[in-house]
Amino acid sequence: MVRGSTVAIVGAGTVGATLAYALLMRGAAQRVVLYDVNRAKVEAEALDLAHGIQFVPPAQVVGSDDIEVCRDADVVVVTAGAKQQPGQTRLDLAASTVSLMRTLVPGLTAVAPDAVYLMVTNPVDIVTQAALTISGLPREQLFGSGTVLDTSRLRHRIAQETGIAAKNVHAYVVGEHGDSELVLWSSAMIGAVPLLDWSTTHAPRLDADARAAVAEEVVAAAYRIIAGKGATNYAVALAAVEIIQAVLRSENRVLPVSTLLTDYVGISGVCLSVPTVVGGSGAEERLVLPMTSAELAGLHASAERIRSVVRELGF
Ligand code: LAC
Repeated sequence: MVRGSTVAIVGAGTVGATLAYALLMRGAAQRVVLYDVNRAKVEAEALDLAHGIQFVPPAQVVGSDDIEVCRDADVVVVTAGAKQQPGQTRLDLAASTVSLMRTLVPGLTAVAPDAVYLMVTNPVDIVTQAALTISGLPREQLFGSGTVLDTSRLRHRIAQETGIAAKNVHAYVVGEHGDSELVLWSSAMIGAVPLLDWSTTHAPRLDADARAAVAEEVVAAAYRIIAGKGATNYAVALAAVEIIQAVLRSENRVLPVSTLLTDYVGISGVCLSVPTVVGGSGAEERLVLPMTSAELAGLHASAERIRSVVRELGF
């Protein structure tokens, strides 16, 4: 299905505004809509972006505090929510964010029932599961950005360690977009060479200690950036553009987005990130990668962490 190209961004905060800018810079959408209850902020963000419109591929950008502005969008991206404070985990935001979704989601699906919904708001796995329950939308039509960002962080670090372009590093972070996420080292590839066998004259094999250090850096990345600048915004916005583009252009990309799993290696009824085909109708087929028993146990543990919070919040 080839879609139009109107993207509505809910939330004109740091992430939402950066996402709007990234969409325009990449020419990924013909119409970028910003919606936020803070009228002054959303109008100012839209105006500031519109003033640069001649420097980017042809597009329109509008901002409003009226949810009507999201009507009939092809993709709706939800970034609204509380900011993770230094030292806070993403799951600490769960209760307040879920209650925000209880009012926000019905209003959005009323004006854009056929849109593909991409949840970015943290804790994104919980938010995705809550939004699915609240909206009643099918799990391919509403999903979360998940560990696409974490996977990008991982590939960046592996590229640094090996001297190979990140685009040629195929490795996934799966599970919760958060502290229980894990790296699937056993299936990681550099070019067509298994990472575990990789060693060249100028880049020694990544041994177990080096891999553990890289994985820890990926998990800690957001905390480190938030401590330094108060929020993360650039990479998460670029990750969202990649996902949005896969939908709008029906690219059938394999991306580790957060979707409701059913009988995925024995995991059901919880939103987690695993490599998934993302195309014109949203999150389509989930791919089962070969996993070691330790990786499988890690994914189940991550599922249990999310499930425990979902149970606490009662949905
Ligand atoms: C991060 C936020 C988006 O990982 O959760 O940067």
